[in-house]
Amino acid sequence: MPDTLLLDAPEAGVRLITLNRPAALNALNTQLLGELAALLDELEADDGCRAVVLTGSQKAFAAGADINEMAERDAVGILNDPRVAHWQRIGRFPKPLIAAVNGFALGGGCELAMQADIIIAGEGARFGQPEINLGIMPGAGGTQRLLRAVGKAMAMQMVLTGEAIDARHAQRLGLVSEVTQPEFTVERALAIGRVIASKAPLAVRLAKEALLKAMDCDLATGLRLERHAFTVLAASRDRAEGIRAFQEKRAPVFTGN
Ligand code: HXC
Repeated sequence: MPDTLLLDAPEAGVRLITLNRPAALNALNTQLLGELAALLDELEADDGCRAVVLTGSQKAFAAGADINEMAERDAVGILNDPRVAHWQRIGRFPKPLIAAVNGFALGGGCELAMQADIIIAGEGARFGQPEINLGIMPGAGGTQRLLRAVGKAMAMQMVLTGEAIDARHAQRLGLVSEVTQPEFTVERALAIGRVIASKAPLAVRLAKEALLKAMDCDLATGLRLERHAFTVLAASRDRAEGIRAFQEKRAPVFTGN
């Protein structure tokens, strides 16, 4: 079991990962990112896992990359930084990933939340890219994913001033899909996970892939990919089951085939 993470299975088909470096406000060191990437690899292979919720503590989802660790790396060290590969592995996770964010989601913490497919935030959550205050800039997607999530003007403002925004503001911008009372953030994220876990896994997987593709390709390419995925699903047993269940006025039983 990883040292820096907790893993629970509170609902059928749903796994809950809790970042667990409370003394450092869940600062993302190499060990934590490596353990998270390895755990997601395991959950990818686990047919019993159909959705994952990722959370931190009430005080901090994650306060960024571990600054003390970062201080020890020069340019060559950063070029060879193993964390880059960990970030890439996390980004390749093919199942739905829901971030349940309370407290600080700063720097790498905001970037990690943006690796999730859905962000649920508690009142009091703070999203920001404060790297500029350290004389650096975001390095794990903060200029790219943030701009796609909130638009150019707000991304510029957040990255260039380093100032954070609150949960309600993040929701208005589209970075966050729902805001809850902080004590219900994980519960709400798990409930969404449970709904997704009840759907046909292949359809969920291909829909996620098509939606992510929409962020980095032109419309014609995206529409082509969507059509291919839609066609592939016609070969699945779950599609036949979903349609038959509708016609027979009963709930479908999806098997992932
Ligand atoms: C290492 C951190 C940390 C971090 C907090 N801590 N953030 N340690 N890396 N990113 C540690 C503190 O040193 C302190 O340890 C303990 O956590 C509690 O933090 P406090 O500062 O005492 O708490 P508080 O006063 O409540 O302030 C909370 C805070 C502040 C506003 C979030 O901690 C803060 O500004 N943190 C840094 C945020 C940041 O700049 N993030 C971006 C990092 S750069 P001790 O031992 O003193 O108790 C980044 C680049 C990503 O993310 C690039 C990816 C490739």
